[in-house]
Amino acid sequence: GVAVGRRVSSRRKWGRVIDVLKELEEGCDTPVGRLKQVVDAVAVEMHAGLASEGGSKLRMLLTFVDNLPSGREKGTFYALDLGGTYFRVLRVQLGGQRSSILSHDVERQPIPEHLMTGRTKDLFDFIASVFKQFVEREESGSGYPLDRRRDLGFTFSFPVKQTSVSSGILMKWTKGFAIEDMVGKEVVACLQEAFTRNGLDVRVAALVNDTVGTLALGHYHDADTVAAVIIGTGTNACYVERTDAIIKCQGLLTTSGGMVVNMEWGNFWSSHLPRTSYDVDLDADSPNPNDQGFEKMISGMYLGEIVRRVILRMTLESDIFGPVSSKLSIPFILRTPLMAAMHEDDSPDLTEVERILRDILEVRDVPLKVRKLAVNVCDVVTRRAARLAAAGIVGILKKIGRDGSGGIVSGRSRPDTRMRRTVVAIEGGLYTNYGMFREYLNEAVVEILGEEVAQHVILRETEDGSGIGAALLAASNSSRNVDTVQ
Ligand code: GLC
Repeated sequence: GVAVGRRVSSRRKWGRVIDVLKELEEGCDTPVGRLKQVVDAVAVEMHAGLASEGGSKLRMLLTFVDNLPSGREKGTFYALDLGGTYFRVLRVQLGGQRSSILSHDVERQPIPEHLMTGRTKDLFDFIASVFKQFVEREESGSGYPLDRRRDLGFTFSFPVKQTSVSSGILMKWTKGFAIEDMVGKEVVACLQEAFTRNGLDVRVAALVNDTVGTLALGHYHDADTVAAVIIGTGTNACYVERTDAIIKCQGLLTTSGGMVVNMEWGNFWSSHLPRTSYDVDLDADSPNPNDQGFEKMISGMYLGEIVRRVILRMTLESDIFGPVSSKLSIPFILRTPLMAAMHEDDSPDLTEVERILRDILEVRDVPLKVRKLAVNVCDVVTRRAARLAAAGIVGILKKIGRDGSGGIVSGRSRPDTRMRRTVVAIEGGLYTNYGMFREYLNEAVVEILGEEVAQHVILRETEDGSGIGAALLAASNSSRNVDTVQ
């Protein structure tokens, strides 16, 4: 009798865990019909964000990039890339012809965590000093004098209200950065002051978002590139918009008739998004509640954290994991690369999953069925993220009339409804390093658009585009380069 009683009770507990999983699956469900609703909502919000300042949660920020690099850019240019897990310094040598990047050097350093929440001066002194070491090394190697003036593109991947292609004000922080005294400040001025303090002569010729850098590099390689997407620590997209469609900025004139718009899609929100109690709690516990809702469901900073919350809930519901470990209660302890490693563990007995559950989360009991369960959780969370990102991409295509629907574009019927070749540049650790995420995303784009149309849409991965693209834009906006070209 006793033995039977025990078996029943342990089975009941396993059942509770299965309920948690089922509930998660239902909450994260993204059938294609729902994705299409998200696509429509994205396109609608894009219109609203372009119509008036504050007209939508999509800020649709002007970038003042009205010409993407022509290919004639020539010379040595630098870039600093700040906004992800790593800070990067780049030197790029341009040959003066399309796709002629002669060489590029990249140095990357993790950003010390205390600098992300400290003071402006400390963060920028760190940036300037890493740059200084980089040029010092170059000087000793190539005879390049330290005090020589250098032209630089600054990739600063946060919402910035630009006042020109090389200046702008930080609107707010995202992705866990929180340096209060910098909000509202001129970004380039902060950088210039740090250069001056460090005795460097640098001209910041372009201030760009990482999406814009990625678009610049994508377009440099392939002129059919119309948009760029980042899916890394954070997520965002930019695209080329016609100036006459940017209603909130009447009289905006550019030689090309277009301008790159930084959507800041991480802040997109719609009632059609599949939201769970884990998302609600994660948001409430974050330093920026009610903000960056799309980003919190999609990007690398948050996916592992969602999984941690689900596993914690499962251990609270049942004793099949052994006693609740204190590690499992630490926010953000399960980083997304570890989650990817669990998800992609293809060993028959899931040894990597076991290792991570044991060593990182200190789960005591990890029989095979518990390991499988953990993989399942990762799958549900990543699949939702990837499919929502896909819907975001198709939303942009819809807005610019590249989703194959022909139809009306900003009041004018398009006489030519044939689908043109359309390239979207894409970058970021989640897309690049997480195979399952990438597969789910690509698959969902085809599912939403249909095979016929999807044939004409190419998602093209770029590498270091956020940085190299900034150097390209620095080149096309530097007077030195104009001299070279003319
Ligand atoms: C965050 C930033 C945005 C950036 C994105 C990807 O969403 O607000 O500017 O492009 O992360 O790094």
